[in-house]
Amino acid sequence: MKILVTGATGLIGQELIRLWIEKEYKIHYLTTRKNHKHPHPNVTPFYWNPESETIDLNCFEGVQVVVNLAGASVSKRWTSSYKKKIQESRVNGALLLVNAIQKLPTHQIQQLVSASAIGIYPHDLQCLYTEKETKIADSFLGTVVKQWENAVESFAKINIPVTTIRIGLVLSNQGGALPMTTLPIRYGVGSWFGSGKQWQSWIHIEDMARIIDFVIANKLEGVYNAVAPHPVTNKEFIKSIAKVLHRPLFLPPVPQFFMKLVLGEMASVIFESQQVSSQKIQNAGFKFQFSKLHPALLSLFKK
Ligand SMILES: NC(=O)c1ccc[n+]([C@@H]2O[C@H](COP(=O)([O-])OP(=O)(O)OC[C@H]3O[C@@H](n4cnc5c(N)ncnc54)[C@H](OP(=O)(O)O)[C@@H]3O)[C@@H](O)[C@H]2O)c1
Repeated sequence: MKILVTGATGLIGQELIRLWIEKEYKIHYLTTRKNHKHPHPNVTPFYWNPESETIDLNCFEGVQVVVNLAGASVSKRWTSSYKKKIQESRVNGALLLVNAIQKLPTHQIQQLVSASAIGIYPHDLQCLYTEKETKIADSFLGTVVKQWENAVESFAKINIPVTTIRIGLVLSNQGGALPMTTLPIRYGVGSWFGSGKQWQSWIHIEDMARIIDFVIANKLEGVYNAVAPHPVTNKEFIKSIAKVLHRPLFLPPVPQFFMKLVLGEMASVIFESQQVSSQKIQNAGFKFQFSKLHPALLSLFKK
């Protein structure tokens, strides 16, 4: 199997590459970092830059599956110019891939798997969202994710089946939200955010990579949520981390206005609630290694 990955140097991409090196797959990846190197002989970098519409067409040679994870991080302050970057890196990145494939005299690509995000679902404290939901969050992230999914759909127009993975909060000790959330708790100054009733649909990094691998191995098309079967509220999330780390929680909840002062508009991410279902991927036969939060956290903190 030969797979082309964008965003391979990121949190999820690195886990996937580890998994696929074990399976002895050949991996090509597109990076915006010039002269990037990878130590493994089965892993080859190629340069691209969606901003300048540059792409090395050699990256597609012999590739059967394209996995699209690239996008500017959403965890930086959302200035208006940075919001443009979040949107354009995803939409233009997907369109650059489609346009490049159309220029090839021939190709063997049989599937496009693209990251998306559960931020597409509207904020709600009660609803359990499945992939059938048609309402879109009336927020910056909701709009961006919808535009991103639309751009990715253009692969179907060139007869490449599309799999869209709506990713939840990925838990890893290597980066993402968990180390940042854990830090104040480690120092005994942690607490939940606002009412703490907002749902956090999380997923362990290993299950995240395994879901992408699973949809490829089983040639699954369409939209799939990538979240663990047991989402928790923010209060439960913070309490579980404190319990696993044996740290006390005695401070009052962190108010929304304070986080807005610190993080600006990006603070909305912490207070939004999406309770998301994993039933569809489980019905397709996927077995989670980490269904419940406590063992997932134990596995991450013991590493
Ligand atoms: N982690 C989560 O909790 C989570 C949740 C929901 C959705 N997602 C989505 O899943 C995808 C992968 O997540 P991740 O956590 O692995 O992300 P990540 O660690 O932030 O990595 C994303 C990768 O995208 C590339 N990138 C950054 N800015 C870019 C730009 N302007 N143009 C093109 N490429 C750019 C970078 O690769 P190079 O530097 O090599 O170019 C980077 O390594 C992201 O699109 C993210 O939005 C993640």
